Amino acid sequence: MTTQIRSLEEYHKVYAHSVANPEAFWDEQARTFQWRKPWRETLRWNFREPKIKWFVGGKLNITENCLDRHLETRGKQVAMIWEPNDLKRKARKITYKQLHGLVCQFANALKAQGVKKGDRVCIYMPMTPELSIAVLACARIGAIHSVVFAGFSAVSVSDRIKDAQCSIVITSDFNSRGPKNIPVKQVIDEALAMGCDSVRNVIVHQNTGDALKMTEGRDLWWHDVVKGKRKSCKATAVDSEDELFILYTSGSTGKPKGVVHTQGGYMVYCEYTFRNVFQIQEGDVYWCTADVGWITGHSYIIYGPLLAGATALMFEGIPTYPDAGRFWDVIQRHKVSIFYTAPTAIRALMAAGDQWVKGRRMPSLRILGTVGEPINDEAWHWYNEKIGKKRCPIVDTWWQTETGGMMISPLAGITPLKPCLATLPLPGVQPCLVDANGHEIEGNDVEGMLCIKFPWPSIIRTTYGDHERCRQTYFATFKDKYFTGDGARRDVDGYYRIIGRVDDVINVSGHRIGTAEVEDAINKAPMVVESAVVGFPHDIKGQGIYAYVITSVPIADVAAFKKGVLDTVTKEIGPIAKPDVVQIVPGLPKTRSGKIMRRILRKIAEGDTSNLGDTTTLLNPEVVDEIKASRLVG
Ligand code: WTA
Repeated sequence: MTTQIRSLEEYHKVYAHSVANPEAFWDEQARTFQWRKPWRETLRWNFREPKIKWFVGGKLNITENCLDRHLETRGKQVAMIWEPNDLKRKARKITYKQLHGLVCQFANALKAQGVKKGDRVCIYMPMTPELSIAVLACARIGAIHSVVFAGFSAVSVSDRIKDAQCSIVITSDFNSRGPKNIPVKQVIDEALAMGCDSVRNVIVHQNTGDALKMTEGRDLWWHDVVKGKRKSCKATAVDSEDELFILYTSGSTGKPKGVVHTQGGYMVYCEYTFRNVFQIQEGDVYWCTADVGWITGHSYIIYGPLLAGATALMFEGIPTYPDAGRFWDVIQRHKVSIFYTAPTAIRALMAAGDQWVKGRRMPSLRILGTVGEPINDEAWHWYNEKIGKKRCPIVDTWWQTETGGMMISPLAGITPLKPCLATLPLPGVQPCLVDANGHEIEGNDVEGMLCIKFPWPSIIRTTYGDHERCRQTYFATFKDKYFTGDGARRDVDGYYRIIGRVDDVINVSGHRIGTAEVEDAINKAPMVVESAVVGFPHDIKGQGIYAYVITSVPIADVAAFKKGVLDTVTKEIGPIAKPDVVQIVPGLPKTRSGKIMRRILRKIAEGDTSNLGDTTTLLNPEVVDEIKASRLVG
């Protein structure tokens, strides 16, 4: 068991130790796991290339730490509670022993399909236990999983499969989400029709059991491949720095990149952060509402809770189905004690009205958490009063796909809270703020760009197949620092408040969306010449997507044109990237070097046109007035 901090005094002591002697600190944490072979060296690094290695020479298997090591003490304990979307279906409870058996069995099935250590496996599945089983089975045999959120379009999945050269795709027949039954396997069929030559087989889990077309020789049923397979499977020992998974995420430029996390460091950091932030206790029922398709699901639905021997709930559905009381109903029924969700869900449920929480007792709740985007004051107080009844600390956890685990966050019940502040860095994390010239801003009551100046075990190692992109994106902006892309404030008490992205990334409902990606998609729509996309404040989503579009011909049927734009974005990326506003414009404000002035477009999108700053240096200043004028017409 990694260090469990129990008081504020202890936090400060441990923090100081972690900075004074990081290697000793992480050595102590890593020792609490099962290793096949101990490491020779704790850390070797430079942020220049970057090259970062933790627990060098160590060998392990993360699933032995998630499952096998708990069997003796927790074999009969529930590891996973599954709450299906459909209320008519029964919840499933899977013990550690059962999960171990199911993971081993599927690992044996993957082996029988020829999957070997280092092979990439794409997982495109709804939120079912089989999704976790597929992830863990890959890890069991040293295969690298690449989970793709099951809401992404065929084009997106196909791009990701090709980038990672996956040999197997694991999917489900249908995704039962709210009132919808989404044909997931069909998306894979379409994706593979776009020339994913690396894929040998598709393994299909039967979730809803609705009729499906299977491709002879390529598609295999999950229930067939596991038939007769043993429920034990010797875990493959891998190197600390072997890849555990790839997870694609959006940035300011180009297509999403595959963030690579490695075995040893990720394991250590996941357990340590889960244990300390949530102050996990025996008997807790923990529920994280994220999707496994995002990093939060990887680290805090699957790996973190299992490594810590906790009981975690997984929910297939959506917060508003069959009604806006669903979350609270699940908390009551399963006696959830720790609840971790996103501000966007809180805002949506708050907007649905207090009648859904009124009169509801949720005495089991002990701790609340949020992640994914800045939480606003109103949502924080509503969460605190209506859900936590002012007796549950809220941990506002700041982190990223690239950080692998939580970085700046209160420790529940220990760190004195301030609404909407992520508060203090976890021991082992050394944040700093820098100005535009890259100088570190010292002292308190200051604002700047958030960087981290020392590695932590689950820091991004590379972007798959393109190390230079990793260097450029995260390590080249400021010398010897990891740049997060976020702006932050450090208040008088040294507490951090995350302001939001300072790059061209929009955070829509807690999902990261690159403006360049959306523009590329829009540009493929009929009659579109050029586009520019910016974020704007949105009551529920946090940020919405605002698209300015130049067309090749005057548009008579504006509604049909806009539908064409939305359909194209849905096809190219997925429904989550659909613009909220599409405005047809005669031109885009550009600098003399041809760069789009997003600052101006952002202001207009926000509806704040009073002070657009100096526009005289633009190549085409007249266009600004035209955009302002046509905004009123829509
Ligand atoms: C934002 C999600 C404010 C931030 C784990 C970051 C947050 C991006 C918070 C990463 C928070 C995440 N407060 N903003 N507590 N947590 N963010 O990679 O802009 O999907 O850079 O990882 O979400 O999003 P990602």
